[in-house]
Amino acid sequence: MEKTVHYFENPGIENTDKTIELVKARSQELGIKNIVIASASGKSGVKLARKISNTHIVNVTHHAGFKGGDKIEIEPEYREELEEKGVEICMGSHALSGVGRGISNKFGGVTPVEVVAQTLRLFSQGVKVCVEISIMAADAGLIPTDSEIIAIGGTGTGVDTALVLKPVHMSNFFDLKVHEIIAMPRP
Ligand SMILES: Cc1cc2nc3c(=O)[nH]c(=O)nc-3n(C[C@H](O)[C@H](O)[C@H](O)COP(=O)(O)O)c2cc1C
Repeated sequence: MEKTVHYFENPGIENTDKTIELVKARSQELGIKNIVIASASGKSGVKLARKISNTHIVNVTHHAGFKGGDKIEIEPEYREELEEKGVEICMGSHALSGVGRGISNKFGGVTPVEVVAQTLRLFSQGVKVCVEISIMAADAGLIPTDSEIIAIGGTGTGVDTALVLKPVHMSNFFDLKVHEIIAMPRP
């Protein structure tokens, strides 16, 4: 089987529109029924939902307090449009840091799950994010774990990476299968 991978010259937000275009084409080719996207503000999620209809979309935002206090990062205007378009919003503990982050912040060192996250970043920040948000959405009961989905992530803001994968719940982490890389930054 031959398939194309789109490599971006640089990571970052400027790759958002192209990533969404590639996701649209691959989702039609594979008959994908569920897409999860990491979008802290909801901006990239809205861009996706404006381009793709007839597919269940989950917009995963940061957990409350990620940026301090009890701050919720999803912006009300984007949330409203996402909800209007039937996109589900997922906000929960980050699967690839979790309480481990609290332990390493307090005592130093690193927890096993943070090593897993850093290892996935060998590919790109977005590959780590795609794996993480798929687990978060599955654990929230928003996507099934018995069929392939597309996951979309990025580097800080916007999106630049997309994978076809079969999600799992966090307790079965090592059963997760990455089937295809649709796009990722090359550097
Ligand atoms: C749960 C979660 C974890 C994330 N982890 C990372 C990360 O480890 N590294 C990174 O560069 N970006 C990370 N991001 C950012 C996303 O990959 C993406 O670039 C961003 O959420 C897009 O948001 P926007 O639509 O508001 O621009 C994370 C986002 C979420 C929601």
